[in-house]
Amino acid sequence: MRKILISLGLLLALFAALIGGLLASGQIGTSSLAMLLNTMLGLSGPAANDATVRQRYQVPDGFTLELYAAEVPRARFLRFTPAGDLLVSRPGMGDILLLRRDADGDGHPDSRETLISGLDRPLGLDIHDGWLYIAESSRIGRVRFDHDRGAVVGDIQPLVEGLTDDGNHWSKTIRIGADQKLYLAQGSTCNICEEEDARRATMMRFELDGSQPEIIATGLRNSVGFDWAPWNGALYATDNGRDMLGDDFPPCELNRIDPGKFYGWPYFNGDNIPDPDMGADPLAGQRQPTPPAHNFRPHNAPLGMTFLNARTLPPEYRRSALAALHGSWNRSSPDGYKVVSLHWTEDGIEERDFLTGFLQDGDISGRPVDVAQGPDGDIFISDDYAGAIYRVAYGKDRAGRAGMGNPAPMTVPAVSRLDATPPGWLAESDLPQMAHNGSELYERYQCRTCHEQGTNPVRLDNLAQRLGYGAVVEVLEAPQSPMPLFPLSATERRELAVYLLWQPEAGE
Ligand code: HEC
Repeated sequence: MRKILISLGLLLALFAALIGGLLASGQIGTSSLAMLLNTMLGLSGPAANDATVRQRYQVPDGFTLELYAAEVPRARFLRFTPAGDLLVSRPGMGDILLLRRDADGDGHPDSRETLISGLDRPLGLDIHDGWLYIAESSRIGRVRFDHDRGAVVGDIQPLVEGLTDDGNHWSKTIRIGADQKLYLAQGSTCNICEEEDARRATMMRFELDGSQPEIIATGLRNSVGFDWAPWNGALYATDNGRDMLGDDFPPCELNRIDPGKFYGWPYFNGDNIPDPDMGADPLAGQRQPTPPAHNFRPHNAPLGMTFLNARTLPPEYRRSALAALHGSWNRSSPDGYKVVSLHWTEDGIEERDFLTGFLQDGDISGRPVDVAQGPDGDIFISDDYAGAIYRVAYGKDRAGRAGMGNPAPMTVPAVSRLDATPPGWLAESDLPQMAHNGSELYERYQCRTCHEQGTNPVRLDNLAQRLGYGAVVEVLEAPQSPMPLFPLSATERRELAVYLLWQPEAGE
């Protein structure tokens, strides 16, 4: 209790100093003042409503935006279940909600319920192999999850305990990688300092049962969101730059996380600019900071990020991710408060606005936190300030009907993914041998476990009606989660494509 009072006191003192300065300089409007107060005390703003969403928010041409669920106070992280229900973590409420998928098509979840309550500030969620993994502020556990019923079974099994959650960035983000390991990102205790607990401000990795802890990357001040690029399996994480060095420094970051690397904090900011408060890195002889893959604007506070499955999106989203910018507090005029798309191009990573309008003339109506893409390709965004989940769809009208009053859907139409002409490598005489090799690969990598077995397999029977050889090779080159990336050679990908698509004439 004493600890809580002291941190509350510190918070209020900091807050008073900050607000005093901002008001004196005349640089802050009353609604951003209310937002600051709300944020620092963990309260919510006015609830989202349809009128605000329609009138105020913008998405790129061809996309539509809807208020999918209102009255979800303090919604933070999102995760889809294999059945298409949406899980929402709410650290501020100590619970995880389950929003049943919109099977009746009215644009809202069919129902909502509290899946688990009484948790200690749960943030990170993932689902793997029938388990729901949950990261509370000081531990990680898992519980059996029946996705058909949308219910947990039995008690939470502890996997990792004794994580520290003092100071600032106590939240824990987890994900399970294609390597079948559990990844954990946890932020720093402070704005800028040397950590006592070496696990803070790092990315860690564990076996799925929580054993074999390993710190794989350091110097990450607060990497709340991370995901793997589907085309090459590279791991990227957002990172929030430090405060109290003015409005325009340092940038927030997107880092490409490679094992063993040091990402700078607390000694370096942005593109390895030494921190004015910290002096030289005492470990300078042993490590070099890795610069960001991309800089977000200072104080924009990127939180959740997710790579997009572009099958239902326009071609420019082929290699892209969305990142939620929660918005600044340590800045004289607010900035951020939007969702941006990141595009991997030949010239590097390009940032574009995706969902904007939360910040207008200093007035703030929402703060995006996380992004998840549903099984049908629609994009869902949480907002912990307006207590809302938004749905962004491509090529649908507001009622979710495809192609009404809007450009035709680019659902990568089946036709366009069939080869216009057979690819050059396809030679009639090789087909039987290639199909044979492909069938062996299909066995070796146990493709059937997901494509023929289980409750809801992604059937490949009529694949030839949807995809051409080139498209199957592409799927294997850059699979969309949860389809894993297999270590296949170019030849092996072609052999699998032939095995899946080629239908020998009778008697051949
Ligand atoms: C862990 C489960 C899993 C395994 C194992 C797996 N896949 Fe998949 N695969 C999926 C899922 C899920 C999808 C759908 C992904 C999406 O929504 O794009 C998919 C999609 C595909 C598609 C595209 C289907 C379409 O209609 O667009 C092909 C082709 C494919 N997989 C082939 C394979 C092959 C070949 C193997 C073995 C080398 C394999 N998969 C192993 C889960 C798996």
